[in-house]
Amino acid sequence: MKIAVYPGSFDPVTYGHVDIVERAASIFGKVYVAVIKNPDKKENFDFKTRQKMIKGAVKYLKNVVVEIFDGLLVDYAKKKNASAIIRGLRAVSDFEYEFQMALTNRKMCPDIETIFFMTDYKYAYLSSSMVRQISKLGGSVSGMVPHNVEKELKGG
Ligand code: COA
Repeated sequence: MKIAVYPGSFDPVTYGHVDIVERAASIFGKVYVAVIKNPDKKENFDFKTRQKMIKGAVKYLKNVVVEIFDGLLVDYAKKKNASAIIRGLRAVSDFEYEFQMALTNRKMCPDIETIFFMTDYKYAYLSSSMVRQISKLGGSVSGMVPHNVEKELKGG
């Protein structure tokens, strides 16, 4: 069984992320969605809340497990026996950062391949920080995030 890890900060998870999880889950036997700390980012939701939101959003996918991990991504992937790291691509602007991360991870762990899935065009504009901003300013994020996340953004 091929195992993949889909890492991200998911602060919060959006329909764009869910789209990538669905694509990965249809190809891999098991997918670990890992809520991982990005040391360069300020956190909004705590790890447990982010994990809860993703779990709620993908509970219909039986081969997906959602976990929290604080450390190096390649260490987590090795621990899970994963052969691939999944990342989503939205636009050309994602490429440079993703290219650098993929090559850095490959340098640290040549056995693990990074695989990119193109997000659905419907979600190509989405990002977690935009969702947070809209929500904080009282706008509607309907259609951008799963219903359980919408509820959490409104205060649970
Ligand atoms: N749909 C919608 N939005 C998407 C998306 C998609 N398919 N794919 C990415 N995004 C958005 C996210 O919402 C996020 O937006 P934001 O910046 O507004 O929050 C942005 O794209 C990128 O976020 P994410 O995919 O969560 O990546 P990240 O850059 O926050 O985190 C880690 C990357 C966690 C995987 C990386 O930092 C990591 O591996 N950290 C562990 C430490 C480590 O191993 N470091 C060495 C790595 S080379």
